[in-house]
Parts: sequence; structure tokens; C-alpha cells
Amino acid sequence: MRLEGKVAIITGAGQGIGKTYARRFLAEGAKVAIVDIDAERGKTAVAELEELGEVTFVAADVASEESTEDCVRQVVERFGQVDVLLNNAGLYYDMDYGDQSYDYLKRVFDINCHGAWLMSRAATPHLVERGGGSIINVSSTGAYLYVKNPPAEFSGISSYAYAWSKWGIVGLTKMSAGELGRWNIRVNCIAPGVTVSDATKKQVPEDRIAAITAMSAMKRTLTPEDLTGTAVFFASEDSALVTGQVLVVDAGVVMPG
Ligand SMILES: NC(=O)c1ccc[n+]([C@@H]2O[C@H](COP(=O)([O-])OP(=O)(O)OC[C@H]3O[C@@H](n4cnc5c(N)ncnc54)[C@H](O)[C@@H]3O)[C@@H](O)[C@H]2O)c1
Repeated sequence: MRLEGKVAIITGAGQGIGKTYARRFLAEGAKVAIVDIDAERGKTAVAELEELGEVTFVAADVASEESTEDCVRQVVERFGQVDVLLNNAGLYYDMDYGDQSYDYLKRVFDINCHGAWLMSRAATPHLVERGGGSIINVSSTGAYLYVKNPPAEFSGISSYAYAWSKWGIVGLTKMSAGELGRWNIRVNCIAPGVTVSDATKKQVPEDRIAAITAMSAMKRTLTPEDLTGTAVFFASEDSALVTGQVLVVDAGVVMPG
């Protein structure tokens, strides 16, 4: 019960990895607000998880200023406080590899980057009120692979705009950590490798996943459950003086220096 007494907002938790974070946070004693743009997914997730603890659904578009402010207000109304914000929502299930339009680039950045900033801005006054808290952003090893020369196994596993936006999240993490540290708010980032979620099953061919597993130091394929321990670490007092850090969780494919 490492998160007992904490209230966590998890965006994009209607399905996939976000829902898995929510399940683990509830098991660790947190009260959880599942935030998603898709109300059906969100309500189904709450019905699935409510036997584990106090969990609620708030429909919100993280790319909307009004929606993010309203979302945090609803969470505070329901639970009275916010201690942890996990910015997991991303445009991934519906990722389009071929769309090179400016409108698409803006949409990807609005959700993946600006969404995390908007949610952080809305939550910050409540974290300050609590005397501190933890913001956790979600990047991807896709970001790191495009910094180096990607091996053939990685070509086409993420779109240009997606990978760039996930690199943007690294910058946001470091800038926010610098700005918010004075209020005892820590900002860290998980960079998962290819993880077998419904979105990955849709986006990444099975043989590509197998090739990545073969390249990994540990010869392991990641499941959403494999990421939850890192999220709990960043959310809990175990990482009390850790801020501005990106932790790659990928069984040893990408090893940033
Ligand atoms: N699965 C992987 O291999 C992998 C690897 C690295 C990083 N990630 C990242 O982890 C996160 C979760 O991945 P997943 O596989 O569960 O993806 P997913 O696409 O299944 O889940 C994303 C969730 O975010 C929600 N969402 C989308 N736009 C939103 C918006 N504007 N406002 C609120 N909610 C919105 C979706 O409805 C969905 O429930 C994403 O940020 C993804 O980029 C995933």
C-alpha cells in the first residue's frame, strides 16, 4: 500500500496501459480518477476496477484548456485533493503513419505534449496546496530511437510526429521539474519500449514486436503490467528527491547515457 492516502489523476486510463496503471494504483491504496476522452471506455474501466477501491471517471479532452481545468475541478470536488498526476493520454491507438499534414502534426502535439502541460497547469495549484506532489509524464523509446540511427526492426513503429512529440515530453519534464521543484512538486517521465497493449496490437506487426524482443538485453516482451512498478515508484515517497528524470523501461533495448 505505497500510495495510501494519495489521490491520483491518470489520463488516458480508459483502456490499455493507463487502465493498468489505475488498477495498480488502486491496489497500492490510492484513490484514482480515470480521465479519458472516450466516455464509454472510461465508464467500462471504472465498472471493472471499482471493487479494488475508490475510483471515478471524468470525461475530458486533455488538449482543451477548458476541459482540463474542469476535469481537475471535478476531481477535487469528488476527492478533496490531488497528489499525483499521471499524464498517460496519447494519440497512439489512432496514430497515422502517413499523414504529413500540418493539421495532423498540431493534433498530435496538442494531445501528447500540450495536453500534459495543460493538465499539469490545472493540477499544480492543488499540488501546491498539498505541500507537494508528483507529476509523471509518458514518453516512449520511439523518441530515443530517432535520436540515434534506428535499426531496421524499428523503422515504421511510430510516426514522425508521434516520435517527435514524445521527445517533446522529455523537454517538458525537465522544464517543469525545474519550475515546480520549489513547491516540492517532482516531475519525472517513463519512456516505455514497445508494450503489448490493444493499441500496439493494432499499430505494430507481430513480427516487428518479436524482432524487438530478440534485440532486448533481457529477451522479454513488455506487457502493461511491467510498467506499473516504475509509475508507483515515481508517485510514492520512495522517489522523494528524484525529479526531472526519464526512466526507460524496455527490457534493455535503448540505454541512454
Ligand atoms: N503501447 C506502447 O507500446 C507504448 C510505448 C511507449 C509509450 N506509450 C504511451 O503510453 C500511453 C498509453 O499507451 P496505450 O498503448 O495504452 O495507448 P492507447 O491509445 O490504447 O491509450 C491512450 C488512451 O488515451 C485516450 N485519449 C486519447 N486522446 C485523448 C484526449 N485528447 N484526452 C483524453 N484522453 C485521450 C484514449 O481514448 C485511450 O484510452 C500513450 O501515451 C502512449 O503513447 C505506449
